[in-house]
Formats: sequence, C-alpha cells, structure tokens
Amino acid sequence: MAQEKNWHAERMTDIPFSGIRKIMQEAASLESQGKSIIHLEIGRPDFDTPQHIKDAAKRALDAGMVHYTSNYGTLELRQAIAEKLQRDNAIRVDPATEIIVTVGTNEAVAIAMLALIDPGDEVLIPDPTWLHYFYCVQLAGGVPIHVPLREANKFQIDPADVARAITSRTKMLIVNSPHNPTGAVLDQALLKEIAALAIKHDLLVLSDEIYEKIIYDGFAHFSIANLPGMAERTLTANGFSKTYSMTGWRLGYIAARKHFADAMIRVHQYSATSATSFAQAGGLAAYRGSQECVREISAEFARRRDFVVRALGQIEGMSCVKPSGAFYVFPSIKNLGMSSEEFTLCLLREGVAVVPGSAFGDFGEGYIRLAYSNSYANLESAMERIAGAVRKIRA
Ligand SMILES: Cc1ncc(COP(=O)(O)O)c(C=O)c1O
Repeated sequence: MAQEKNWHAERMTDIPFSGIRKIMQEAASLESQGKSIIHLEIGRPDFDTPQHIKDAAKRALDAGMVHYTSNYGTLELRQAIAEKLQRDNAIRVDPATEIIVTVGTNEAVAIAMLALIDPGDEVLIPDPTWLHYFYCVQLAGGVPIHVPLREANKFQIDPADVARAITSRTKMLIVNSPHNPTGAVLDQALLKEIAALAIKHDLLVLSDEIYEKIIYDGFAHFSIANLPGMAERTLTANGFSKTYSMTGWRLGYIAARKHFADAMIRVHQYSATSATSFAQAGGLAAYRGSQECVREISAEFARRRDFVVRALGQIEGMSCVKPSGAFYVFPSIKNLGMSSEEFTLCLLREGVAVVPGSAFGDFGEGYIRLAYSNSYANLESAMERIAGAVRKIRA
C-alpha cells in the first residue's frame, strides 16, 4: 500500500498532544477495566459554579441572548472587567478598546502570541511551566527559551537567570503568579526586578494571573502591570475558570494598551470571533456579584493544601516546597531513583493519577504535580495510596 501522505503543516512537527491529557487517557483506560483511580492530575476546581452565576447565564439564554456579541465581548462585561482590574490590580484600561473577552485564558495566550510574535522571536518562559505557552510560541513561529525555576529557590524566578537568557531576539517574557505547576507566588520586590529587566531590554511581558484569587498565608497578589513603566508593555491575561470554577464555560480575557489589542482582536476575529454570549452574562454576574464564593473556595483549598503538604512530609523519599498559591503541589521524587514518568505510572497502578514533572518542561524532571482540587476524603485516600506506593518502591 502506498505510504499515506502527511498533510500536517510544517509548524505542527514539534507540537505534541498534551502530556496531561495522555495521563487522563491512561487513567480512563484503567477505569474502564474496573480500577478505582483518584484524580489528582486535572487542573480544575472540583466545585460547582456558584448558583447566581448559573442563574445569570440561564436568564440570558431565556431572554434571547443567543447571538454574536461584539468581537471584543459585551460592553457590560468589559466594563465590569475594567472596574475589577482597577479595584483589585490597580490596572487602568479603557473597556472600549483595551480588553478582549476570549474563549478561556488559553485563547488569550494564543492570540497574544499569534498577534505579537514573529518567526525567530524569542520568548522567555519559566520552566517548569504550563506548557501552553511553549506551544503557542511555536505555533507563532517563535522560539521558546527555558528559564529554570529551582526548588532551592522555592521555584521563584531568579532575575539573574532571566538576564542571562536575554538576547537581541528576545521579545517577550512570561510571568505566571501564582504559578502552575509549583504554586509559587512572586512578591512585589521580585516583580520589580523582573520589570526593570523588561524595561532595560524593551521586552513585552505576558502576565497570566488566572490563579490570583487562590492565594494563602496572607500573601497579596500583585500585578506587574501596576509597576511604573509596565502598563505600556504588559499584557494581563486572566479568566473565570479557576476563581469561580467555570472551566467548561470557556471564558477569559486579555487587557493591554490599544495598539496591542488592535493586533490581537484580528486574530480573535478570524478564529473564535467572540466568546459565547450567555457565558459572558455569567462572567458579568461573577464580577458584579458577591465574592463570598471566592473566599470559600480559597479557604477550602488552603485546608487541603495544609493536609497534602503535611502528608507528603511524612513520606520518606519525597519532599515538597509549601506552595503559596494555586491548587498544586510539586513534590520532588529525586530520592526514589526513577523518572517522573515511571513514578507516575507506578502511582497510576496504585490508583492515583498525577502528572509527571517532565510534562511541564525540561526542569520539571524529578518532580510530580499533584492537584488538590479533589475532595478532602479523596485526598486522604490518595495520600495513603501514594505512601504505600513509595514504601513498595523503597523496599
Ligand atoms: C497558568 C494557566 N493559565 C491558563 C489556564 C487556562 O485557563 P482557561 O480555562 O481560562 O483557558 C490554565 C489552566 O490550567 C493555567 O494553568
């Protein structure tokens, strides 16, 4: 038989299927054979979307909000986003021209890269990382440059590493605080050092703040766009998925100076067109309604984090930095003498799904990511199973 023609575009060559989805598929296959699996691999809150948000979307549907909205998103939602950005983040943007409502924060990152990165442009990405940044840069023809995050430094980005990675082709730097997969939170002093480098080398900064409300121990989220000289060069991406447990609604946004938005809106127009109309009504209710649900979600995550960190601390051979935000821990398995993928497969056989650190970049090897977005009771069972698996490995 003649060999099948490869129809893929050249740029797809280095774009793999998501590493996390692979684990989910493997877990699903074991489950279909009757195995009980506790899912700690999925980066999504396990709560229902708060009722007042669902009600607003239902009302919008019943009122006939079934048509395209402005490509930028409804003006009401953009106004609510602008107010939120000013109130919570001290970022001033014009809702008419400087906010684009997107199909999740995923799309916000994708349109930023496609609109602003040229072939050969380098983008500095802290590694380990949410890999979406890497592949969006590659889809745009850009070159992702890994900037290592080290456990010894509590996974905080080191400005000296950033400075070393900058070349004449560097165009953008990614900041993600609180951070996926490590849970690290960057404080204002560190962000100031990063901002000084961005200004000195005339770089754009894409600040992904999707976990801003899931933050512990009295830490306050700080937006880099709020620093002097940074509003002009920062694209602030955020969304509703994590704060309000709305991952399936696919709703996010990007806020940036008009000339950046002018480029990004054209990518958005020719791909997504606009975010779903009635989901935007839900987003409006999320931002305009009571924030009690956010405090409740964050408090529950804090309780689970404390438990998981404590339980990991009792497992000989594993160690972990206590995360200050998001809903992930990123423990080291370097003392267990196996790769993170081998260990992940071992855990899967014991009934716990996690993600190998290697799925988050070169510097993620030797770690696993465990999402504590699962019930307290399930976390208790999962930690017992992990402890049992490690005991077997060490024996
Ligand atoms: C850092 C980060 N940004 C963005 C997203 C995606 O968000 P959304 O559901 O709004 O597309 C994720 C999802 O895991 C994430 O971890």
